[in-house]
Amino acid sequence: MNNYTLEEYNVKIEDAKSKVESIIGDFKPRIMIICGSGLGGIVNILSNQKVVKYGDIGLKDSTVPGHDGKLVFGEIGANKVPVMCMVGRLHFYEGYSLQDTTLPIRLGKVIGIETVIVTNAAGGVNKDYRVGDLMLINDHINFVGFAGFNPLRGPNLGQFGPRFLGLSDAYDFDLRRLFFQTKQKLNIQRKVHEGVYFFTAGPTFESRAEVRMIKTLGGDAVGMSTVPEVIVARHCGIKVLALSLITNEGVGSEPPSALTDQDVKLDEGMANHAEVLEAANEASKDVQRIFEETINQL
Ligand code: HPA
Repeated sequence: MNNYTLEEYNVKIEDAKSKVESIIGDFKPRIMIICGSGLGGIVNILSNQKVVKYGDIGLKDSTVPGHDGKLVFGEIGANKVPVMCMVGRLHFYEGYSLQDTTLPIRLGKVIGIETVIVTNAAGGVNKDYRVGDLMLINDHINFVGFAGFNPLRGPNLGQFGPRFLGLSDAYDFDLRRLFFQTKQKLNIQRKVHEGVYFFTAGPTFESRAEVRMIKTLGGDAVGMSTVPEVIVARHCGIKVLALSLITNEGVGSEPPSALTDQDVKLDEGMANHAEVLEAANEASKDVQRIFEETINQL
């Protein structure tokens, strides 16, 4: 639930803004990139970097291995597009409120961000998805939101956006097309799908029965992030491109039966964090190349 009043939250946003500006001066980022699990290497495509630690500007610290906890400012591509990269996102499962996890997006808005590129590691639920594939998110299911956890719950921040926000086209069509065209132009062979991201609170991975439920409900990939950030970005009028890297396949088969005397191997195919980071590392290079070229055109 919310841990700040409207007034306290506005003060936090303004305070973070002035602290960031005191470090980056008149540098004005237009694009924000949120690096998902194992995708922190994206930051390597930024030149002339300036680093701001979350703790120094009143943001919570990232507690997850593979998530660093810093904002990196710099330029991308021949056109020197000014970018702010979030290395180490904040997750709901870390115990943080959705106000805290999405504060970086509000900060982005007040310092001039127009487009956010959100990345994540996700489990493949669609039977056609394989480890290492990419999925451009074209819609989401906010399962956590159905339980009452929505980052826009509470008094509306009216200076950013409306009380009742429409989300039917949250994932920008032109940006998705540009990403896909760029991948083709660069002749990158990695498979790119378009699909629905199913948001769970985590930190546990899904049970077999939950994977089957997610499939039935229309999810193509499942993960523990992204949706709160996208909702807040849309509330601020920021355009969204969101990309899932499929790091494992969700296990949706029936559990082995204890009622037979056959030998069984337990935990086969079960997702784990090491596997997630390894798959992310492999794909990261392709993602970096596509982003560099895509962002250069924004
Ligand atoms: N489930 C939820 N989150 C994830 C997964 C998964 O299988 N893989 C990477 N993040």
